Amino acid sequence: MAEYKDDNNKKQILVTGGAGYIGSHCVLALLKQGYNVVIFDNLSTGHIETVNSLKKYGNVDFYQGDLLNYSYLNTVFKQIAVDAVIHFAACSQVGESVKNPQKYYINNVCGTLNLLKAMLENNVKKIVFSSTAAIYGEPQYTPINEEHPLNPINPYGQTKLMIEKIMEDYDKAYGLSSVRFRYFNVAGADSKGIVGEWHEPETHLIPKILASTHSNERTFEIYGNNYKTKDGTCIRDYINVEDLAEAHVLALKYLENGGKTNFFNLGTNEGSSVKEVFKLCEEIAGKKINVIIRQKREGDPAILVADNSKAKDILGWQPEKKLMQSIKTAYKWGIINAR
Ligand code: UFG
Repeated sequence: MAEYKDDNNKKQILVTGGAGYIGSHCVLALLKQGYNVVIFDNLSTGHIETVNSLKKYGNVDFYQGDLLNYSYLNTVFKQIAVDAVIHFAACSQVGESVKNPQKYYINNVCGTLNLLKAMLENNVKKIVFSSTAAIYGEPQYTPINEEHPLNPINPYGQTKLMIEKIMEDYDKAYGLSSVRFRYFNVAGADSKGIVGEWHEPETHLIPKILASTHSNERTFEIYGNNYKTKDGTCIRDYINVEDLAEAHVLALKYLENGGKTNFFNLGTNEGSSVKEVFKLCEEIAGKKINVIIRQKREGDPAILVADNSKAKDILGWQPEKKLMQSIKTAYKWGIINAR
């Protein structure tokens, strides 16, 4: 536990959405580096249990609040000294964003505008932002580098692209420096089992397959098997959540050292098909799972793989964990927390 309590670096980071899946892993990574963390989360999808677990590993304060409530947000900024912000809080389900775009534009875009306003009012000028590969839209080539055209095909991706553009303008006008990370498919859990993926409902591939190993029917649905890929199923780039969290710490250091506003893909450069992921899950769980082939899910591109060389070159980031490790930690997390 001592490794989490090294207080050499007393910088204080406000983490919006720190009670959620990716945010909580990032909080752990910050605590390991001796940062103080303030979590700001409305607990709409995050969990108070997650906050309580994190508090055992370092200096963590928690404010339950919504980014849409500007006066409360501003009060929090006035109460605490914030050196930088890492911004995860957002609605993030692609399908839901198509059905209810208003929720996404208001929560994600207006929420971020409030956050940036409070930052400027309180002279906080550094932010690391959780963007998405969804801003690229239908891939025109693979692997996707940061120069790929930006054509999101759903409101979720649109909101993240709008925010990226807002951050560019705020840098030019107000000197607000940002690092925006375009995540590919984030997977796995903390290797010590402190935090993990906990979505309700769960829509993501790996936790869904693993959850099907707990149920009696043990049935898993593959969305489409006639894509133009090696085995007909979609290919994705699964980046381990602890590796992803490390990139955020590197981004903070980059900004602390005067690094300029920038944006990076976070992925592994390697793709795995749904069938390959499924086989690995069966192997790790030691169980056979029945498969049903369903229709393609609307808006699913055949292949999404990152070119991650920019993050390696500029931030010195190096993802280390293989897909197998992500699935193992996700499985362990699921077993401990079977819900
Ligand atoms: N899939 C299935 N069965 C399932 C669930 C998923 O076959 O029950 C397939 C999907 O069709 C897709 C792959 O597994 O081919 C991965 O699906 P996920 O839902 O786990 O992830 P997505 O690729 O749809 O989405 C992820 C993030 C989004 C982000 C997007 C970027 O969750 O937030 O990557 O492209 F926008």
